[in-house]
Amino acid sequence: MSIKKCFLLLFYPEGVILFPMFKWQMISFETVESTNDTARDYPCGTAVVARCQTQGRGRHGRTWQSLNGNLFLSVVLPEMGEKTPLLAFVVGLAVVEALPEVPLKLKWPNDVLKNGAKVAGILLERTDDKVIAGIGVNLKQAPQQHLLYRTDTLGTGLSPQALAERILKSLNTMLTRFQENGTAWLLACWLKKAAGVGQLITVKMPTETITGIFNTLSPEGALLLTLDNGTQKAVSAGDIFL
Ligand code: BTN
Repeated sequence: MSIKKCFLLLFYPEGVILFPMFKWQMISFETVESTNDTARDYPCGTAVVARCQTQGRGRHGRTWQSLNGNLFLSVVLPEMGEKTPLLAFVVGLAVVEALPEVPLKLKWPNDVLKNGAKVAGILLERTDDKVIAGIGVNLKQAPQQHLLYRTDTLGTGLSPQALAERILKSLNTMLTRFQENGTAWLLACWLKKAAGVGQLITVKMPTETITGIFNTLSPEGALLLTLDNGTQKAVSAGDIFL
């Protein structure tokens, strides 16, 4: 399969990055187990969409209820070493910027909220040499059962295909801006759109639950909290409750 890529060589304070600008190759399926699994077989620059997913998954091995009419999209991105986890922020911002007509917020690490309810989730997975970013958007239906959070639908008349196209366009813009402006810029953009900054939040981790003020993000994208006793804590994985 051939995909058109052009490579830009750019210099910025964090070094030289050779990053592909994608002319996305979109491949559509009727039914797959998970678009993230299907995408693994394709090269960088591929976007996989499916009308149905039978084994959609979310973060921490949870099931992603893949209801009819919603968007199930996975994009294949290049491995970026230690910066790979930051791609979740790039993708989150791309989803928000793709939908200027909807008042959306980002919830650390990978959720998209509308009026405090989850409308989209992002799952970043690595292979040996690629990164698969899976994006699930509740376009027509919001799952209601066995959930940690409130959910909602996006509430636009967009079809999954139209939304996928918007997100891919916006993702190219965000990837370019990220490579031009670097990590500090990315995190500042993300924080501007984030829910809960400066507020008391609860973070559930596998072995403990903590409460603290959400101050900012570390350069690696960890949540930086101030706890009740005044100490600072960095959290790199968990679920936050606002
Ligand atoms: C989360 O919020 O836990 C992340 C959910 C990610 C769901 C999407 S739907 C498309 C892609 N395929 C999957 O199996 N998961 C992601």
